[in-house]
Amino acid sequence: MKKTIGILTIILITVGFAVWNFELFFSSQSNDLQSRNGEDRLLLSTETPSVVDEDEEGDLDEKVEHLYAGMNLTPDVIFGFSEINESENEGAALDLPRGSIFSVLDEQGEWSLIDKPAMGQAWVKSTDISEVPYAFNKKTMIEDADAVDVLVNKEYRLPHDYRPDDLVIPDIPFTISEQDERMFMREQAAHAIEELFADALGNGLSLFGVSGYRSYESQQRIFSNNVDIQGFSEANRTSAVPGESEHQTGLAMDVTNEVVRYSLTQDFANTEAGAWLGEHAHKYGFIIRYTEGEEQRTGYTFEPWHLRYVGVDTATLLYENGWILEDVVG
Ligand code: DAL
Ligand code: ZN
Repeated sequence: MKKTIGILTIILITVGFAVWNFELFFSSQSNDLQSRNGEDRLLLSTETPSVVDEDEEGDLDEKVEHLYAGMNLTPDVIFGFSEINESENEGAALDLPRGSIFSVLDEQGEWSLIDKPAMGQAWVKSTDISEVPYAFNKKTMIEDADAVDVLVNKEYRLPHDYRPDDLVIPDIPFTISEQDERMFMREQAAHAIEELFADALGNGLSLFGVSGYRSYESQQRIFSNNVDIQGFSEANRTSAVPGESEHQTGLAMDVTNEVVRYSLTQDFANTEAGAWLGEHAHKYGFIIRYTEGEEQRTGYTFEPWHLRYVGVDTATLLYENGWILEDVVG
């Protein structure tokens, strides 16, 4: 009898241990990929966010941050920034390039911005959704980034690794003298801006290019600096989150002239050249992308200096009807 009880006890303990292990196994599996409300979400860790020591080796600038997010990230966010690496003891880690900005959904369902992890640190800048009007899960990834009339805005994002493959430097005067990424435009837009500038000059109006193509990484640096100075919301009224800038398409060029001392200012609209552009740019396929009084719809304040190539037909349609790009593409 005693022997039977002993055997039964051993069996019970063994079965109990197996069930316990089974649950552990499956709960750790579900940490990797959870399906909730029909959406796949990656659960990185259930731990409070903390930071792992940086790599001892290598150039500081080339190091990546290892951040334990402890929150759910949408695949969109992951797509934009990184791979998930399994670390030995602490679950999954995110490798973030220096200066990354991304939003996370916490367990209360609130969006928070994690902004600019510096070396060896990362922090949640705000947990108040009203201060963080940015949620990657509401964004749409652009599928045809090469389309000349592609709509890039606060809703439609470019893939982080999108770079046009026909970038050339237009033969126009620039405010920068050294060759620079910002001088480039897509070939079709480059030819068009050469003709536009030549027409302006024929009318006695000189124009200068300031900033054309900008890589995702350049936009990230610019936007991060602006966030440091102005905060996210103000910065995002005039400057795009990386992935949301038309400059990454190679179809935009900021222009200026000597009257406004080669700066990018709304006063440019009151210069003869600025006003002339508003009336003639469409003939060459360009629009003033962020027009006055349209901030609610374009997402950005008036930028009389930001020319966007969309092709002559679309530009003319928008010019003649007083429309913005959102009215015809989307
Ligand atoms: N200034 C425009 C919106 C940009 O950053 O692309
Ligand atoms: Zn611009």
